[in-house]
Amino acid sequence: MSPHDLAARALRALDPEDAHGWAIRGLKMGLGPRETGPDDPILAVKIAGLELPNCVGLAAGFDKNAEVPDPMLAAGFGFVEAGTVTPLAQAGNPRPRLFRLTEDRAVINRMGFNNGGLDPFVRRLKARQGKGGIVGANIGANKDASDRIEDYVTGLTRLWGLSDYFTANISSPNTPGLRALQTKAALEDLLGRVSEAREAMKVASGADYPIFLKVAPDLEDGEVEAIVEAVVDAGLDAIIVSNTTIARPASLKSVHAGESGGLSGAPLLEPSTQVLKRFHAAAAGRVALIGAGGIADGAGAYAKIRAGARAVQLYSALVYGGPGLVTRIKRELAARLRADGFAAVEDAVGAA
Ligand code: FNR
Repeated sequence: MSPHDLAARALRALDPEDAHGWAIRGLKMGLGPRETGPDDPILAVKIAGLELPNCVGLAAGFDKNAEVPDPMLAAGFGFVEAGTVTPLAQAGNPRPRLFRLTEDRAVINRMGFNNGGLDPFVRRLKARQGKGGIVGANIGANKDASDRIEDYVTGLTRLWGLSDYFTANISSPNTPGLRALQTKAALEDLLGRVSEAREAMKVASGADYPIFLKVAPDLEDGEVEAIVEAVVDAGLDAIIVSNTTIARPASLKSVHAGESGGLSGAPLLEPSTQVLKRFHAAAAGRVALIGAGGIADGAGAYAKIRAGARAVQLYSALVYGGPGLVTRIKRELAARLRADGFAAVEDAVGAA
């Protein structure tokens, strides 16, 4: 067992939120795993103009305050999404609010966008400018904002030039009413104002950055199509499918299964991949897709790509595997691509 596996095991003995805090501290001190070699070229992919050295990314929520993007890139992720950051710092929901469903290889969280706000986030991204590696900013709205859409505009404006891409997160189940932004009229309003801000920043700075939309897996018939049309109309660059689910599959065994919040990890793999397929069909190549939900090995990543994703993200599997997991996932994914005769990730996109 490697020192990092040992550390991951020790952290699992702690309260999950304390464990996460220690993991962040350890990563900041340089104690995280390091990918030793260059990425297998078969895993490289271009998405929305971003050249990813490999298609396996860190999902939002692990590094809410942009404290450890570089250690996570060093651990082997092809891109890291920091956030969700809201304009103002907020405490989030009372603890406990993070639960390991160990028997289910799952997590339930109702963190509620606990984060330090834009000021320190901006400062940290400024401090790492020029370091290289793809780092995105996942932006959200404060719980008490009088105009939630304005919070997305604020995030975009203040972080312009500091992150390689943006994700508008409208799919957290833990900010009451947030997911209502996924309904047609609200979404058109949001995306209209975000695109307007993007245009203004483009003119002012001479630079442009891709913007992604992150959606929930719990969508009714017709909602998938409406979201795709709104995204295409607004000229956004990709959709991340998906965030955590409010559903509770009957298969869950853990005593924590009844906790409220968003479920992620293994039980989310199948349902989120099914929703991804619906997005792939609706998008018909007009907008790129990023698959997230339950990826814990190469097979899970490959399933997302075959369902239509050009890139993937994961978080919950790290709770059980530690950051060293990414090396194994990449190796397994490369082997699967080769075994099926693909020369590149993009050749396998939507092959299922
Ligand atoms: C998350 N996720 C998340 N997503 C997001 O857009 N903003 C956030 O702040 C968070 N916070 C967060 C906290 C915790 C503890 C978890 C487990 C997850 C969702 C995450 O990015 C991802 O979309 C889902 O968890 C599904 O992927 P996994 O975890 O099954 O690989």
